[in-house]
Amino acid sequence: MERDRKAVKSWPATLRMLHWGMAIAIAAEVVVGFTMALTFLGAMQGGKVAQLHLRAGQVHHTLGFFLLAAVVWRLVVRLRHAAPADPDLGVGARIAARAVQGLLYLLMLLLPLSGWAALSALGAGAGYEAPSIWFFTHDGFAPGGMIPHIVTPRPWDAPGLLVYSTFAKFHVYAVYTGAVLLSVHIGAALYHHFWRRDRVLARMAARD
Ligand code: HEM
Ligand code: HEM
Repeated sequence: MERDRKAVKSWPATLRMLHWGMAIAIAAEVVVGFTMALTFLGAMQGGKVAQLHLRAGQVHHTLGFFLLAAVVWRLVVRLRHAAPADPDLGVGARIAARAVQGLLYLLMLLLPLSGWAALSALGAGAGYEAPSIWFFTHDGFAPGGMIPHIVTPRPWDAPGLLVYSTFAKFHVYAVYTGAVLLSVHIGAALYHHFWRRDRVLARMAARD
């Protein structure tokens, strides 16, 4: 495997496409997520932002499901291809890079799953209509819709942990954890490119 990795100079084209495509989609997802969260109160009070809130929610949930599918695809590609050899770094830096990349994968899975769980818990039990997950006000939840509940719907104040607020809090903390990890990740990429002047950024940006 080590010999394979030395022979591999760049990341596979599919992985590069997924890496940059998902980076753009995640940035959009974050902007739309904050738009949805910041218009929540106004929408509840019947203000002008109600329509924006609804549309932002539909885009957020739809795009989030595409991101979930994309990360599963990306994991399969990542596990089936040898990664390029690590640059000439200390053991600590290499472990740190792998750890940050592994945690980013974990968050790319847990973010959509926790959002999905939050909406599942919010279902009819909380006096809400099933949220319109898809564009054009399609009801997302099975049996009428296309998306099953992954936790049982419960009222807001139901006892126990499996309620909307638990998953929503987890989702929001995961967003902030992701921001910290991404600062390290992007900072390291820039360090390689401008300070060490090696090919770490180039081999993710383009074919050798
Ligand atoms: C990689 C995918 C995702 C990212 C990066 C993301 C990001 C965000 C962000 C930035 C917010 C606003 C945070 C705040 O309120 O301070 C948010 C809120 C929310 N997202 Fe996502 N999200 C993702 C996927 C999903 C999915 C798939 C769903 C559901 C199907 C979802 C459901 C929600 C809900 C319900 C909230 C409101 C939470 C609250 O009560 O504050 N998200 N998300
Ligand atoms: C401007 C934004 C970004 C830059 C400059 C950047 C840069 C890079 C570079 C240079 C590599 C290759 C590292 C190596 O060859 O050892 C890489 C890999 C990776 N990046 Fe990023 N990245 C960015 C955004 C993101 C985002 C938003 C995520 C996920 C949330 C992410 C997750 C990963 C992962 C998991 C890898 C390992 C390779 C893979 O499995 O795709 N990156 N990144």
